[in-house]
Amino acid sequence: MSPYSAILGTGASLPRRAVSNQELTLFLAEKGVETSAEWIETRTGIRQRYLCDPDETNCEMASKAALQALQAAGATPLDVELIILATSTPDQVFPSTACAVQAELGAHKAIAFDIQAVCSGFVYALTVADSMIRAGQVNNALVIGSEVFSRLMDWNDRTTCVLFGDGAGAVYLKASSEPGILGCKLHSDGNMGSILNTTGRIEGGRIVGDPFLRMDGQAVFRQAVSVLGNSALELFESLNFKLEDLDFLVPHQANVRILNSVAKKLKLPEDRVIVTVGMHGNTSAASVPLALNHAIVQKQIKKGHNVLLQGVGGGFTWGSVLVRM
Ligand SMILES: CC(C)(COP(=O)(O)OP(=O)(O)OC[C@H]1O[C@@H](n2cnc3c(N)ncnc32)[C@H](O)[C@@H]1OP(=O)(O)O)[C@@H](O)C(=O)NCCC(=O)NCCS
Repeated sequence: MSPYSAILGTGASLPRRAVSNQELTLFLAEKGVETSAEWIETRTGIRQRYLCDPDETNCEMASKAALQALQAAGATPLDVELIILATSTPDQVFPSTACAVQAELGAHKAIAFDIQAVCSGFVYALTVADSMIRAGQVNNALVIGSEVFSRLMDWNDRTTCVLFGDGAGAVYLKASSEPGILGCKLHSDGNMGSILNTTGRIEGGRIVGDPFLRMDGQAVFRQAVSVLGNSALELFESLNFKLEDLDFLVPHQANVRILNSVAKKLKLPEDRVIVTVGMHGNTSAASVPLALNHAIVQKQIKKGHNVLLQGVGGGFTWGSVLVRM
């Protein structure tokens, strides 16, 4: 058994179509939905998002991101022993998207399953993969966050449809004698399920209930700022880790004002917070690995850096993972 798991490679994949605030505003105006590019950018920091066309799938994006992560790590699909895919927007009810990715990659040796913790899905999946590696059940894992949230949007609801985008990010994790993942802390509170949800289901061949994403934006905002700040401090305290030793925060990318508030609460300079929400919008479980990959490609995050990954979202769920890259 190895004392740690370490991230050896990252990857990302986005749909081919980028949609700017201006383009989205025009599309919504045709439907009689009033918004403006300026409102979206000043209230959220979002300038554009990528949206899947009907022929693009969750599995396709996830597989591309996974292959990139494997290539960055010098590994191949045949090496992979575990695939955990975090998503709330699978291509089908079952089999899992993780199994579809396994087939697409030809990763014959892997155990594959999905995790559903909405926008916290990636940190949940990373925590489970880290535990399975440290317990000696597997030697490595592909951990993927991949979403097609555009398929849950009510394009007549301006309070939600301007916020979300599609995409996938992945990391390849391997057993290691050196850190690695230093610690993980997850939380859930099912009593807050009503502030962010999609309650519809398939029954008797029909959709029963509401198939669209619904959100109490202000309640989610307040909750996100509170739990992200507390979750970071709780994890640091349990590891005896000092805030001044943190190089970068990679939080779930929902709204730049949430990210700034968390940075302020932690007394972290804003240049140590990775912000990609402007480019991607909120991509739910894909947002953290997309942001991590972006910061690595841009050479902001480098080997040896201490990085805090944070998720927060529907459930309510939230969590933090501290990693030495
Ligand atoms: C959704 C969110 C951007 C709204 O921003 P806000 O500053 O709280 O705005 P409010 O909800 O107070 O709305 C202010 C006004 O803007 C309006 N508005 C909402 N969406 C709008 C849009 N797309 N365009 C123009 N006006 C809009 C509201 O109707 C309201 O108008 P009113 O004052 O006449 O009633 C913000 O609450 C947020 O980011 N919440 C968290 C969302 C999130 O992170 N979700 C995912 C978590 S995983």
